[in-house]
Amino acid sequence: MAIVRESIHGQWSSRWVFILAATGSAVGLGNIWRFPYITGENGGGAFVLIYFVCVIAVGLPIMIGETVIGRRGRQSPVNSLKAIAADEGLSSNWQLLGWLGVLAGFLILSFYSVVAGWSVAYIFSVGAGTFTDATSQVSADEFKALTDSAPRLLWWHSLFMFMTVFVVARGVQGGLEQAVRWLMPALFLLLFGMVGYTMNVGDFNAALSYLFRADFSQVTADTILLALGQAFFSLSLGMGSIIVYGSYLPANTSIPRTIGLVALCDTGVAVLAGLAIFPLVFGFGLEPGSGPGLVFVTLTVAFGQMPGGQLVGALFFVLLAVAGWTSAISILEPIVAWLVEALRWSRHKASVIAGGAIWVLGVGSVLSFNEWADFQPFGKNFFDWSEFLSTSVMLPTGGLLVAVFVGWRMSRASTLTELGLSDGVIYGAWRFLVRFVAPLGVFVVFLNALGLV
Ligand code: TRP
Repeated sequence: MAIVRESIHGQWSSRWVFILAATGSAVGLGNIWRFPYITGENGGGAFVLIYFVCVIAVGLPIMIGETVIGRRGRQSPVNSLKAIAADEGLSSNWQLLGWLGVLAGFLILSFYSVVAGWSVAYIFSVGAGTFTDATSQVSADEFKALTDSAPRLLWWHSLFMFMTVFVVARGVQGGLEQAVRWLMPALFLLLFGMVGYTMNVGDFNAALSYLFRADFSQVTADTILLALGQAFFSLSLGMGSIIVYGSYLPANTSIPRTIGLVALCDTGVAVLAGLAIFPLVFGFGLEPGSGPGLVFVTLTVAFGQMPGGQLVGALFFVLLAVAGWTSAISILEPIVAWLVEALRWSRHKASVIAGGAIWVLGVGSVLSFNEWADFQPFGKNFFDWSEFLSTSVMLPTGGLLVAVFVGWRMSRASTLTELGLSDGVIYGAWRFLVRFVAPLGVFVVFLNALGLV
């Protein structure tokens, strides 16, 4: 049965804008900051290969499922789930899945903004030449000086939240769409420029064989779980970003084709980020497995030594900040859309209030690097708890429930119509993955996150 609703928030001007926006959501700190360092910590090629499998077998089917929910419901995730549940004669409790997303969004954006703030800070410090000829020790001290200072972190976190609220307050066409139209081409230009540059300056062959030569001797169950968690985070799944973007998708656009392209771009950018970063790491004799400090502490040493490194380095952090910005927008949007629907607030008011509340939570993450560093209930500080609860508990739960909802609870006819597919191999493959492979995969990750397997 075809169900035609209209979103009160507007609609993307074209399929291409949706592709830009969804790619903007997916491509973020997860691709450029997190993917390279987890790859580095897990031995390179084998991790990359497992990651690809996770994206195709679990991430992509769920991403398609989220888009189906959004476009069919045409509202915020909470209300889309409620509306579809009513259409299909299901329990209205399914809207709780939307609530989980709202909650996860608050938490994710609060710490995401703090890390994105570091990138903005580094545009200026790298650009000012702070790292010229810096040793690894100097670079590490520089990073520590930033995180030790609550006022500095607070300033960058505030600036980044302001940038995010500024865009979301302007609405779907006037804000989100304008932002991605300019920022995404800039992002791709910067990324290709970086790769072209590091190909010449760094050790490109070492990076290639590191990323693509699979050595499975280092692979453990943890590697697989980490790869699956990363696929989730990188594709923006489990909290409603893709649902809400799907709710603005023009009716006649093919979801499988469009989302396939978005997932491909997201994965491509992660690989390209690796190809921009690892040639420098190897070319300058640095350590690929240096963890979360890889781009801030390790890579900056290479920038400090290479010709033009001051400019290229600053541009690299512009790239990271832009990627984070278009993602942050997509984390705030589902919350704002819901506030506008539920409380009839203006978009402006909803963005400022939601952004303000998230900012306050983020202050907890800021302080956990300095003033509150010793406050660690159950071994995690405020930042670690926010990250753990949202990415390891809420996102997998959200993703699992999305898979169950579209795979088991929505009728076959509804998903078939919404996907615009005939009942053939492609639909069959999607349905199989979303009914069996995805829920099982996520369930295992979840148990692992809780320390049960
Ligand atoms: N995918 C983004 C990144 O890679 C972050 C992000 C945006 C996200 N929206 C999300 C993560 C929703 C989880 C859920 O940085």
